[in-house]
Amino acid sequence: MKKLKVAIFISGRGSNLESLIKSSFKKRSLVEVQLVISNNSKAKGLVIAKKNKIPSIHFISKKNFESRVIKYLKNIDIICLAGFMQVLDSKFARKWRWRLINIHPSYLPDFKGLNAQDQAIKAKAIYSGCSAHYVTPKIDSGKIILQKKVKILKKDNTESLSKKILIEEHKIYPRALQMVAKKILNRQT
Ligand code: GRF
Repeated sequence: MKKLKVAIFISGRGSNLESLIKSSFKKRSLVEVQLVISNNSKAKGLVIAKKNKIPSIHFISKKNFESRVIKYLKNIDIICLAGFMQVLDSKFARKWRWRLINIHPSYLPDFKGLNAQDQAIKAKAIYSGCSAHYVTPKIDSGKIILQKKVKILKKDNTESLSKKILIEEHKIYPRALQMVAKKILNRQT
């Protein structure tokens, strides 16, 4: 079975990276993770890549990231952003349209942008969640692939909410990736 080749962009901890790698090892996975790219040399996710024998590269600065990364993406079918703390330029987003996805820790369109969990707590929202979505030039606004709601209790704070949301992120992101891969494979046949 032909598997699509995935690159994962990270900047930090890498827990979503880990869940994507783990699920890609499943026999029926439609994807294989070929490469991890970090814009931060100290990202813990780089250790996770190494542990799982996935090649990785990191850039020392965020400058010209898009033009410098191109040569590594020649054989890549899908890019997953997983805690990648940089807004990719619109030319890049347009070039990778329908093949570039992200996970965001809110039930979009609520709480776009940074510190989404904190935004939800401060807004006294009764629920938040997470959303796997396509990336477009407009931040956190691309078509939703999968979403999951998470209840916010009175006792919740940013930290406890983040933990609850992260559990759901780890479930929906790998599923969303399989859905995207399936769509691409169907288009090719
Ligand atoms: C996650 O909450 C993700 O939704 C957001 O950044 C965080 C990354 O966490 N975009 P990790 O690096 O995957 O552990």
